[in-house]
Amino acid sequence: MNILVINGPNLNLLGTREPDVYGHETLSDIEKWLNDQAESDGHHIEWYQSNHEGNIIDRLHETMGNMDGIIINPGALTHYSFALRDAIASVNIPTVEVHLSDIYNREVFRKVSVIKDVCIKQISGKGKSGYLIGLNKLISLSE
Ligand code: DQA
Repeated sequence: MNILVINGPNLNLLGTREPDVYGHETLSDIEKWLNDQAESDGHHIEWYQSNHEGNIIDRLHETMGNMDGIIINPGALTHYSFALRDAIASVNIPTVEVHLSDIYNREVFRKVSVIKDVCIKQISGKGKSGYLIGLNKLISLSE
């Protein structure tokens, strides 16, 4: 399978950003770790990170016809971006929503995900394992 993993605003700062919440691993540590798991199963992952809503939407549009699944951690866009929600619904590719932290046990505004209903699964609070759970969910769709 060809899977696109998208990380949204501020996730480029993983490793130094609020390590008590998000841990000490960088985004590139997580990329290497997940790539190893995917490649050993014959799957290919492309990675994209942006701090800009429109760029993420453009990247989602480019997946049409090219990707079998999407894993997305939209960062704070999760909680208010109806444009992102519409983009996920528009490309119509199975999409898993991932959050490193447990969005249900933090500030009240984080409890709302406007993209949840257009994703096939939401994983929250499992750290980097959330990306692997998402990958396995997408792989299971093709089996
Ligand atoms: C996050 C949770 C969001 O509320 C936050 O804005 C992030 C990261 C997570 O991975 O836990 O940037 O998506």
